[in-house]
Amino acid sequence: LNNETQQLLKLHDKAAKLYHHILINTPAGQSALNYLRKRGMSDELIDQFGLGYAPDQRILKPFFEQQKIDYQLLRKSGLFSENQQGELRDRFVERVMYPIKNGQGQVIAFSGRLLTNETDLPKYLNSPETPIFNKRRTLFNFDIARKSARKNGKLYLFEGFMDVISAFGAGVTNGIASMGTSFTEEQVAIIGRATSQLDICYDGDEPGQNAIDRAISLVNDHRSKQLQVKVVQLPAGIDPDEYVQKYGAKQFSAYLVNKEETTVEFYLRFLKNGKNLDNQNELMSYLNQALKVIAQVDAPLEEDMYLQQLASEFNLDRQTLRTQINQLRQQLG
Ligand code: GTP
Ligand code: MN
Ligand code: MN
Ligand code: MN
Ligand code: MN
Repeated sequence: LNNETQQLLKLHDKAAKLYHHILINTPAGQSALNYLRKRGMSDELIDQFGLGYAPDQRILKPFFEQQKIDYQLLRKSGLFSENQQGELRDRFVERVMYPIKNGQGQVIAFSGRLLTNETDLPKYLNSPETPIFNKRRTLFNFDIARKSARKNGKLYLFEGFMDVISAFGAGVTNGIASMGTSFTEEQVAIIGRATSQLDICYDGDEPGQNAIDRAISLVNDHRSKQLQVKVVQLPAGIDPDEYVQKYGAKQFSAYLVNKEETTVEFYLRFLKNGKNLDNQNELMSYLNQALKVIAQVDAPLEEDMYLQQLASEFNLDRQTLRTQINQLRQQLG
């Protein structure tokens, strides 16, 4: 580790401690603490994730100047925004602060959330890329989750930080989230080195479903060794955090186990979106797309199961489906 890296890590550690202190011990943090409590966050969870608050008064700059921290280091940290004159201002103001850690558990960046949903500002604001923060290679809670995955045999990929935190509170400690909505091939490689199974559990809305589709494709295109992908689709209109708050820890962990499905099962449902299956043409188009997905299954028994499922759902002859899928296989090579 070079000197600059060390100093940037030190800076982030200090900032995280300050934000946490403000949240927990000062009147300036009271509204944020109320907000988190209303969202069902226990003191234990707030501590576990080192959550904090950046108040309306810009406090970080005077805090570091008092400690005679070098201007260039502050500039590079991403904790400040810079105006035309090169003056630095705290980047995070009036936001709940979620420390983002690297694989060793060191704070390398922050994401800050507004206390309200109704405003023109972005709901979440992330640190920019810095010498210690590469978004494409960072996964929230990975330092903890990868250890937990050694026992559980898998990682859960959630959409948001709050999903990871609530899942953790419910005993699901092997959850991670990418930074924002984009999931990258670098993250796939990092996950593939930590575990052999990834369960994608995104929000139960349309963007969530589309993101599951993209994530599956990404893993299938980029996995280096055997990384098995499965899906847990949430009920419509709800995300993992909301599920935990609404139904409790026990029901959440049961849901994860009981609703875990293969990617093929996910696609057999997903491909129906926007199609009117009472219409002969659209049904044909659905069946062809579904058979293409099933054609990629290696295991004969599993393939047979899906064909049987399709046959009985649409009252078709299983043998005809098999003939069709064999033709498709020849076309696909
Ligand atoms: P809560 O509203 O706090 O429960 O967050 P959420 O995780 O449910 O948010 P949502 O499902 O809308 O988005 C999923 C993830 O996308 C978030 O956790 C963020 O990482 C990211 N995200 C959402 N809104 C923004 C935004 O305005 N800016 C950025 N950079 N990322 C965002
Ligand atoms: Mn504490
Ligand atoms: Mn969402
Ligand atoms: Mn969500
Ligand atoms: Mn949410």
